[in-house]
Order: sequence, then structure tokens, then C-alpha cells
Amino acid sequence: MAKILDGVSRTFSEYLLVPRLTKRQHIPANVSLRAPIAKFDGTAEPRLSLNLPFVSASMQSVSGVDMAIALARQGALAFVYCSQPVEKQAEMISRVKLHKAGFVASDSNVKPDATLAEAIAITKATGHSTVAVTDDGTSKGTFVGILTDKDFWEFEDDLNDPVSAYMTSVEHVVHGTEGMSLDEANAMLRKHKKECLPILDKKGRLQSLVFKKDYVDHRKNPNELLDAQKRLVVGAGINTHDYRDRVPALLEAGADVLSFDSSDGYSEFQREAARWIRERYGDAAVLGGGNVVSGEAFDYLVRDADVDFVKVGIGGGSICITREQKGIGRGQASALLDVIAARDRHLEKTGVYVPVCSDGGLANDTQIILALAMGADLVMMGRYFAMTDESPTPRVSIGGRVYKPYWGEGSNRARNWQRYSTTGEWRFEEGIDAYVPIVGPVKDVLGVTSAKLRSTMCNMGASTLRELAENVVLTRISEQSFVEGGTSNVLSLDKDQPQEV
Ligand code: IMP
Repeated sequence: MAKILDGVSRTFSEYLLVPRLTKRQHIPANVSLRAPIAKFDGTAEPRLSLNLPFVSASMQSVSGVDMAIALARQGALAFVYCSQPVEKQAEMISRVKLHKAGFVASDSNVKPDATLAEAIAITKATGHSTVAVTDDGTSKGTFVGILTDKDFWEFEDDLNDPVSAYMTSVEHVVHGTEGMSLDEANAMLRKHKKECLPILDKKGRLQSLVFKKDYVDHRKNPNELLDAQKRLVVGAGINTHDYRDRVPALLEAGADVLSFDSSDGYSEFQREAARWIRERYGDAAVLGGGNVVSGEAFDYLVRDADVDFVKVGIGGGSICITREQKGIGRGQASALLDVIAARDRHLEKTGVYVPVCSDGGLANDTQIILALAMGADLVMMGRYFAMTDESPTPRVSIGGRVYKPYWGEGSNRARNWQRYSTTGEWRFEEGIDAYVPIVGPVKDVLGVTSAKLRSTMCNMGASTLRELAENVVLTRISEQSFVEGGTSNVLSLDKDQPQEV
């Protein structure tokens, strides 16, 4: 006979937080947003914590190199997508790890006889305006010169001219030498008033580039998430099909956190893959499991698969049609509360705290705050980050407004069958291909969300996310109270006015 769970499936917009006593110490400046991402027992610190509780989804239209750099700089984390060949994903991870060192592998390179048009096309594809000119057009070729957007006028100069006619050639370029420290490279940039310093080996081959902008960014972002070698921390999605090849390559490239990207993680496939990883690598990488929507599935992944954190959410994503297509899923708030209850039971029984990540369907800052207040340690988002400057998709204009494409991993565009199928079959879509409006840089949007979260935490008498979850009192709201929560009976003049961020 069918078992029907008590209560209906609920979502975040059905709840409000009831404020608790705000004490004098509860001011936003005193609030810590640190969040564990690896399981730990009460006697030790977690192997890894984030400085902000936000992670980006392992999706083609969300988490590339620029997103990973931007998020780690803010103290958060990206999961570079796994629906691409192993070598490409590993190369993306390496680029993030190389980045923080200040010595960046040049990603925009041309031969001297390339045309200006070709160089411009590369800058548009990479989003970077400095092009290294090398004899063979690779990032490690013999350095011939450098071309930036200051060297030519795109709408005046003949774009069929060779790059060599416009570049600053090697004899006029201030450059550093392989083996120099980052401090020395920055000192050279400062002394010579330059924006970019190419680093060459003894034979004149390009090794890397050092940018003044990176130094400035570093000083402006004290919250950066760094590993023991002071490199940016980065996560990577993995699947249960090719993990024997993918995981070694990702760990070799420097991935700090691995997370199964699966629409339904309550499976023996995930347990076997997780066990394989643990047996070979122990605690070397933080390992996330999921997605699940029940306490029972949480228990299975923690007990049998030995994962570090668990992701919750099936069918709630903004581009997701899994519930319509297959009839599986659960309201995200109900799923999260059930998993958090299982997590708390596990803590009580074993003394081990397993972080939980609420994944998908967070439509606004209020829902992000509710997920954290209900006990999630982290939230994973796709749409939220797809809308930022750093997502890896081009800007497009629709009806006079600017958007970015955003597509699900289960859409025909991504065809990430490894996320959805246990056999390699692809018979129907579970996601759509869409567009989202552009909202600006990651730093700005995270700044606003974090400010709201800190403010709510003060209302809830909490200085840490753990205290927030422990203090929380929720109330269910009627449709009428939901309407009451918006503005009413007034003509709003300032609703869509610009605000300083
Ligand atoms: P969003 O933040 O609401 O856009 O949801 C992002 C989440 O949706 C991801 O982290 C995945 O868990 C999930 N997801 C990604 N692609 C698909 C899809 O094609 N179908 C269903 N869920 C998806």
C-alpha cells in the first residue's frame, strides 16, 4: 500500500521568521558568515570552511574559471561543471589554482601575423583585453610582444593589418624573469607604472603574466578563500560514471572540494563511487553527496557513502522540469527540514556534524535567508550566479534589454546525461534553455545578499549561522499575510529606482 507522508510539501515562501531578542552585540559588523563544508566532530575544526555560505551550481552556463575566481575572492566557492571532457575541466581547475599565485597563464595569445580582427575576436571570447604575441601563438611560445586595447582603434584601424604592426614589441616591454617572487613582480609593476608584467624564461619563452589589477583586487578582498599554499579554493562537480578518470585528474589539478552532480543521489551508484574515492584519497578532498530530499537518503549517504556534506533539492531549480517530466521531488522547505532533522539526530548520536547545502529554487534573498535559518549551512545557486558578469555566457539583447543565456544541465543544450541517467540513455529533457537579466558583478550581488543576511541575523539574535539555526522560530503564512508583506494601497514611486550598492 502506498505510504503518504504527513503534511504537504512546502516551500520557503510559505514561512516568515519571528524576530528574537536583539542584544547590544548583535550588529552587522559582529556577524560571522563562516560556514563549514566538511564534516567534523566537536573536538576539531572542519577541514574546510567558507567565509560566505554561497556556492555556485555545477552548470555549463554558471561555473567557469571567472566565476570560480570571483567567488573564491569573496570567500565563497564555485563548482566547476563536469559536463565537459575530463581534461577541459581539469584545465579550468588548474587555471583557478594558478590565478591566486598572481602568475596567470595567458589565455589570449596570437602569432605576430594574426590579424587585428583575430586578436579582437579572442579578447571578446576570453573577456580579457591583454593579448600575448608569441612566435607560435601559444601561451608558452617565444614572447614577441604584447597587444592591448590601447594599441589600436577598433573602428578606425584596418582590422586586416597584422598584430605585429600594432603590438609593443619585446624589446620595449618591461618583463620579469622566471623564478622571481610575486612581491618582486609587483614591485616592478609599481616602479615602471605598468598594468601587466610578462614573465619570461631564460630562452625568452612566455611563462605567465602578472597584473596590477590582481594585486589591487587581492588587497580589496580580505575575505578571500585560500588553501594552505595561498591559492584560491575551488570545487568541481563529478559524476558516478567516469569518476575513475575524472577524480584523479581533478585532484591532480588542485580541486579542493568534489561534489556529485546528480539529480537523484540516493543510489548505490553514488555509494560505490564515494567509497572508491575515499579508499584511494581518504580525506584529501572534501566530498559532497546528493541530491536528496529525505532524512532517510541523508542517513544513507552519510553512513554508507561517507560523504562530507549533503546537497538537498530535487525539482525546485529555476530551469528544472523534473517534477513535470517524472513526478519525483519534494517542496524544498519540507525536504530541507526533514534532512536537517536527520542531520541533528546524527550529530546527537555520533558527535559528528555533517554540513547540509540547500540546492536550487532560491528565487530571492529572502528565500536564501530562510534556507540558512532552517538549518542549511550553505546554499547552492544557478540562476543567481548565471545573471552576473562572471558567468561564462555571452550577453545578448532581447527587446532592448540585456540578458545572458541560462540552461539546465538536463536540457537538450547541455545533454548532461551523466547527471540524470544510470545507463547513458538520453530520451527526454529535464531542464529548459532560458535567458536571465544581467545584474552586475558577483561582488556587488553577494554584497547586497550578505548585508540582508547579516541584518536578519541581528533581528534573530544571532552572531553566527549556527546560532541563527538554533534560535530560529518560524511561522507559516496565509496567502493574505503574503500579500500583506508587499506594499499596499500606495502608489510606489521609488520601487524601481536605482540604489547605491
Ligand atoms: P536555480 O538556482 O534555481 O537556478 O537551480 C540550480 C540547481 O538546479 C542546480 O544546482 C541543480 O541542482 C539543478 N539543475 C541544474 N540543471 C538542471 C536541469 O536541467 N533540470 C533540473 N535541475 C537542474
